Amino acid sequence: MSTKSSQLKVDERLQHIAFIMDGNGRWAQKRGLPREIGHKHGAQTFKKIVRYCGELGIKVVTVYAFSTENWKRSENEVSALINLFNTYIDNFNSDHSEDNIKVKFIGDITRFGDKLASKINKIEEATKNNAFTLNIAVNYGGRSELVHAFNKLISEGKREVTEGDISGAIYTSHCPDPDLIVRTGGDIRISNFLLWQSAYSEFYFTDTLWPDMSANDVDEAIKTFYSRKRRFGAV
Ligand code: FPP
Repeated sequence: MSTKSSQLKVDERLQHIAFIMDGNGRWAQKRGLPREIGHKHGAQTFKKIVRYCGELGIKVVTVYAFSTENWKRSENEVSALINLFNTYIDNFNSDHSEDNIKVKFIGDITRFGDKLASKINKIEEATKNNAFTLNIAVNYGGRSELVHAFNKLISEGKREVTEGDISGAIYTSHCPDPDLIVRTGGDIRISNFLLWQSAYSEFYFTDTLWPDMSANDVDEAIKTFYSRKRRFGAV
């Protein structure tokens, strides 16, 4: 996916794009392939789209890679996804050598076991001084994130909280809220993603299945974003 050809310019109005990467299973099923193959292609697309966003000058990208509800899927599918996360981290340095990515896994990573959790901690530490933030939501749910944040604040002794306290206690406290949330795969819903952070986000929905998502589709989403008037509740 070449990127330099895009005429699109992004500015400070669009700092953070989040993606709900839906449609991997259907992409595979349409081809008579197991769902896991759809996720594998989805993981390739994910890398290309992240790189493309970085080249456009987007400062933060967040992707929804595994929800708190995804444990309900077959053992095969869950372990295929976990394998993809492991492989991604193992190949991170060669795949993203030029991309200047600061990677953060958001969600409760403890459920993936010590080995993956420790790999995650290491890659976060190794990339923490890079400029382009990539949040990968795994075992993530917007509601459980808020419960986690409130419990954190209670354990710190808070008896009353402000919006600022909550924004400081959620998993994305290190970055601005998403300006644009893109969902592929045709469904028009939020699916427990970034519930607090999306209060003023613009939404873009496309029927494109995630593995087919291209730089042109990202351009379309961005053009649509710039055609909207964001008022943040004002007139
Ligand atoms: C939803 O589509 C997608 C997921 C549950 C997984 C998304 C994960 C990836 C694209 C891999 C990411 C890899 C890394 C390394 C971050 P679905 O499969 O439920 O789609 P369907 O609605 O067509 O079944």
